[in-house]
Amino acid sequence: MKALVLAGGKGTRLRPLTHTSAKQLVPVANKPVLYYGLEAIRNAGITQVGIIIGSTGREVRDAVGDGSAFGLDVTYIQQEAPLGLAHCVLIAREFLADEPFVMYLGDNFLVGGITDLVDAFREGDYDAQILVTKVTEPQFYGVAELGPGGEILALAEKPDDPRSDLAIVGVYTFSPRIHEAVRAISPSARGELEITDAITWLVDNGFRVHSHLVSGYWKDTGRLQDMLECNRIVLEAIDPRTHGTVDELSDVTGRVVIEAGASVRNSVIRGPALIGAHARISGSYVGPYTSIGNSCVVEDAEVEYAIVLQDSTIRGVSRLTYSLIGRNVEVTRSEGVPNTLQLMVGDHSRVQVRA
Ligand code: G1P
Repeated sequence: MKALVLAGGKGTRLRPLTHTSAKQLVPVANKPVLYYGLEAIRNAGITQVGIIIGSTGREVRDAVGDGSAFGLDVTYIQQEAPLGLAHCVLIAREFLADEPFVMYLGDNFLVGGITDLVDAFREGDYDAQILVTKVTEPQFYGVAELGPGGEILALAEKPDDPRSDLAIVGVYTFSPRIHEAVRAISPSARGELEITDAITWLVDNGFRVHSHLVSGYWKDTGRLQDMLECNRIVLEAIDPRTHGTVDELSDVTGRVVIEAGASVRNSVIRGPALIGAHARISGSYVGPYTSIGNSCVVEDAEVEYAIVLQDSTIRGVSRLTYSLIGRNVEVTRSEGVPNTLQLMVGDHSRVQVRA
């Protein structure tokens, strides 16, 4: 069995971070979301992985390399334009050959791994297996309508009027039959070859498609609130450890990881929180569900429910919350009068200030 990991796409909802980096590389608990998927694939006993890359291919290659760091053997497949998930299967035909495979969307975050799913697929004689889970806003996903025995009655891609609250999770398993399906379908209204249509083709043509309800936590990390939620979930389960230094004036409580070379001085850290390697926290409060990236500086500031990427500085600001801060960013206090806001923010940034 092989794996096909999709790490192309534009990531428009996470701009401006995705102007300069791939959405699959935005970190959750200081680790790119893509790595969690690669680890889940390896844990399911799969080593041959094709990664579809797009315009951010260079970053993805730099981050994953030949895959050996994950125990994987990675082949990169370039997609010239984001033409849909089924298009990815089409261009990966040669890599996939005639083996069954798991297709994993690189921005999906699934707690609990995929081993059960892969085992169930290996044991059952299916042509496709989809995962579904209950969501509150099904209109933003592929939606499955299931019969009383879990059989698939219909699938729809981001329907205006969803027929159920079951979203299709971005992890699928396929037999080689899917190659026939992706060749048989036409582009959707949004101009993409939809995997949902290819699976519908399998159902309509009498092939065996199985659905599996995910009970564990799942998120498509495409939006800010989803990134923050994933970060919260991972931090809630981290094993506390202190490899950096904490002075006597500081108060560290709850699940907190302080990585090597990090220093915490005269500060309050309230877990779950993660302080990256060589970060410097002084005179500050770092509140629950916060990941501070490597080599960041947090000084005379308060930060909570936030993800801060590496090499950024937060100084004299209180209280920063519900925030995703990119790499090499400075958030500081402007001094003197008049009381002004001074901003230099990238394209498609979002800044919310108290009026
Ligand atoms: C894709 C699929 C959709 C699925 C979702 C899960 O949507 O087309 O059916 O529910 O992934 O993450 P996209 O995020 O590419 O718009």
